Amino acid sequence: MIVAGNWKLNTTLIEGLNLASRIEDSISKLGPMEVRVIAAAPYTHLDRMVNSTDRIDVFAQDVSRHESGAFTGEVSAGMLKSIGVKGSIVGHSERRAYHGENDELIHEKIQMCLQHDLEVIYCCGEQLEDRKNGHTMKVIERQISKALSKLNVDQFDSLVIAYEPVWAIGTGETATPRQAQEVHEFIRNWLKQNKGEEVSEKTQILYGGSVKPGNADELFQKPDIDGGLIGGASLKAEDFIQIVRAAG
Ligand code: 13P
Repeated sequence: MIVAGNWKLNTTLIEGLNLASRIEDSISKLGPMEVRVIAAAPYTHLDRMVNSTDRIDVFAQDVSRHESGAFTGEVSAGMLKSIGVKGSIVGHSERRAYHGENDELIHEKIQMCLQHDLEVIYCCGEQLEDRKNGHTMKVIERQISKALSKLNVDQFDSLVIAYEPVWAIGTGETATPRQAQEVHEFIRNWLKQNKGEEVSEKTQILYGGSVKPGNADELFQKPDIDGGLIGGASLKAEDFIQIVRAAG
């Protein structure tokens, strides 16, 4: 199981370091657990967090598609790797919605991470309109085909998929465990058909979208839900730890 916090555009450096250290302390008190804990923090925090945490794997929230050059404001996979960051979120719906990211660009970013030995949490998810029109699976299939079809089987060792229905992100409205399981099962079947049984079994598929201490347990019990990608609730150490505990 994986529980990953996506801090988004939140916390100053000091606040972020405090949050990480409180999470770290609480995890240590939980004792041995089969849960991998990840924090995807703002770029400004990453170096310090890598050096001050032990039980938390530090990820970025985005990465450039470019290797290097005249691309003002970008941060490359090689730069992240050089400071000990483990991986990056790629294709978050907020990047798609506010920064015009499309499936092709997202595929390039995934390749760039993998070339630099960075892990990827790849996000997919439908809009409310898609769900209402009964197009959820069609949208998911389009997104994952474009992003993942060209990857070879070995590359899936470094890839985690997060299903995040856009209508459930930051809205307080969660997909029911049944709705989430349905899509997770669809993704797992796609992996089986396109990349084989082994990839479909080993690839972890996280659910994201208003996961809270009160609903984590029920979601994580579903057979194809291998953990969560947590936004709002990852900013409160107590809530986040309760979610980690639910996964343990
Ligand atoms: P919330 O948990 O705030 O709904 O955010 C989910 C998310 O976008 C994680 O990447």
